Amino acid sequence: MGRVILVGSQKGGVGKTTTALNLGYSLSRLGSHVIVVDADPQGSLGIASNLSRKTTTGFAQVLSGECLLGEALTRSRDESLAMLGSGVNEADHAMVIEDAARDGRLGAEMRRLAEASHYVLVDAPAGVGSLVRALLEAADGVLIPVRCQNLYLKSLPAFLRLVQKVKESRNPSLEIDGAVVTLRDERSASETALYSEFVGGAPEALFFKTVIRHDEIFEKASQKAVPVAMLPGAAAAARAYLDLALEYREREAERGWGASEEEDDVQGLF
Ligand SMILES: Nc1ncnc2c1ncn2[C@@H]1O[C@H](COP(=O)(O)OP(=O)(O)O)[C@@H](O)[C@H]1O
Ligand SMILES: [Mg+2]
Repeated sequence: MGRVILVGSQKGGVGKTTTALNLGYSLSRLGSHVIVVDADPQGSLGIASNLSRKTTTGFAQVLSGECLLGEALTRSRDESLAMLGSGVNEADHAMVIEDAARDGRLGAEMRRLAEASHYVLVDAPAGVGSLVRALLEAADGVLIPVRCQNLYLKSLPAFLRLVQKVKESRNPSLEIDGAVVTLRDERSASETALYSEFVGGAPEALFFKTVIRHDEIFEKASQKAVPVAMLPGAAAAARAYLDLALEYREREAERGWGASEEEDDVQGLF
């Protein structure tokens, strides 16, 4: 049984979609079976992953009974990574997803995806609305991308409180996997000051040590609709997400989370 990890935050533009796709890709390179789910009815991940050129079928069609979960997945060539688009091609579809969030079917489908993989990374919409709550109720862990700027850092406690509330009231096994600093500009004096104040002052192990630096190649990757590692000249950016994937697995082992991969499960390379 894999882990369902919600990639969420109060604010938009912090790299949630980029993180879901690139962390998912990195985990799959490390040998895990990963499903990346676009649970943002705006469908940004579908665009980011080039999915819309392949299929317009996704979560909405599964939830309305038009197709089976397995049929809605688009698999990478080597099958280690699969994507489930939101399937939101018209306004009605967003309602299908919101209705399913309310009656628990959304969470149930998410759990079914975890049965067939090591990681289900869920690209959530920004905020703490009812859809995000429903996704949190079905998740095992939460990863919070955050930019090192006042506006973003100040919204972090409210998001953490929501996660805590869902944990206490609806989902006792929910963990805060951690927060990751994204789009970091190391030349900015104010970011550096905020980094030491917030990240240094946060409870131990809230923030991952890996920092994702600002790099224009991420914009290029979103335009081309691929994980950044697939672009030439992206070594530093790709390495950051690979480092995050390795740190994630280390944290998982330390904290004994769901042991998503046992040594015995490790498959041969050939
Ligand atoms: N590390 C980064 N450096 C530069 N640009 C980035 C980085 N991460 C994401 N971006 C860009 O910032 C924008 C917002 O990122 P996105 O992942 O869509 O955020 P969210 O899903 O939280 O709204 C996108 O255009 C994306 O290409
Ligand atoms: Mg997004």
